[in-house]
Amino acid sequence: MKIPHLVRKKHDERLVLHRLQETDHVAEFREAVRVGLGRSPKQISPKFFYDERGSQLFEAITRTEEYYPTRTEAALLTAHVEEIIDTAGEHMRLVELGSGSSTKTRVILDAIAARQKALEYIPIDISPTIVTEFGKQLLEDYPDLTIRGLICDYRHAMAELRQRDLPNKLFLFLGSSMGNFLPEDAVSLLRDIRATMNAHDYLLLGLDMVKEAQVLHRAYNDAAGVTAEFNLNLLARINRELGGEFNLAGFRHRAFYDAAQRRIEMHLESLANQIVPIAALGRSCSFKQGETIHTENSYKFDRHALDELFSGAGLRLTGQWFDPRRWFSLNLLAQA
Ligand code: AVJ
Repeated sequence: MKIPHLVRKKHDERLVLHRLQETDHVAEFREAVRVGLGRSPKQISPKFFYDERGSQLFEAITRTEEYYPTRTEAALLTAHVEEIIDTAGEHMRLVELGSGSSTKTRVILDAIAARQKALEYIPIDISPTIVTEFGKQLLEDYPDLTIRGLICDYRHAMAELRQRDLPNKLFLFLGSSMGNFLPEDAVSLLRDIRATMNAHDYLLLGLDMVKEAQVLHRAYNDAAGVTAEFNLNLLARINRELGGEFNLAGFRHRAFYDAAQRRIEMHLESLANQIVPIAALGRSCSFKQGETIHTENSYKFDRHALDELFSGAGLRLTGQWFDPRRWFSLNLLAQA
């Protein structure tokens, strides 16, 4: 059978990327490493985990038996997507913060595509490659889909969307990615999203919940060592991109739950006193035995923390779903 090509728009018209920032990724990484390793205690932001290898390793983490968040959230979405779309209304466009969550995005796109013809998807990501690769696959499967990607950080994207003032937006912020932010930064980003929402816009926010410490511990210390490799890849990335001379065997992955702060902390711990040259910094970095680089916080929420976060951001809950074990939450929010 021949598809009448005149009625089908070409892919290149349906996938448009808008670069809002010219970022030099290597220079940005170098400055973060320079500043972060100069601090005491040493720290590097988790956003630098996601080079090509790191993104692959994160995908592998989501497939481990111990890492429950991804599959719990996906099941919740599948179970409740009709209710979510019922609330969010007709003729909506989808705006996604971080476009990595391909299977979950498809659950929403399927539900919307069954109800309305034209469909606009606005992924926000700092990586043009991720948006392009994922976008092309989506165009194959959704003939009425148009993708207008914004290649920038969330702040620039919100400013751009405020200028465009598009009606009927459903924002997606899934995977408990917001859990990486310190509480005050999470409120501030949510306020920025809220300021970009119209009266009939919604935000679907997936957040991981407080639970038995052992379950949390296992999720970040999988038996196959995938999370350890994901964490250590940060040192490998410094070696690759900045001419570092880290011996990965000289460090170990550490992840633990801090109940008082309601967060998992990930660190890279030096197993010896050592001095590591980093060519791009023009200097070496010294480590004491047992000293760590703090590489990630992953906040967990209880009902009270959720309420506090939402009210602090000027958002109102219009729907909330939990799995039977209450391990993960999906929160549908509108302007208060
Ligand atoms: C993608 C930030 C939600 O914190 O659980 C997984 C990243 N780190 N295993 C999380 C991660 C270690 C993940 N987030």
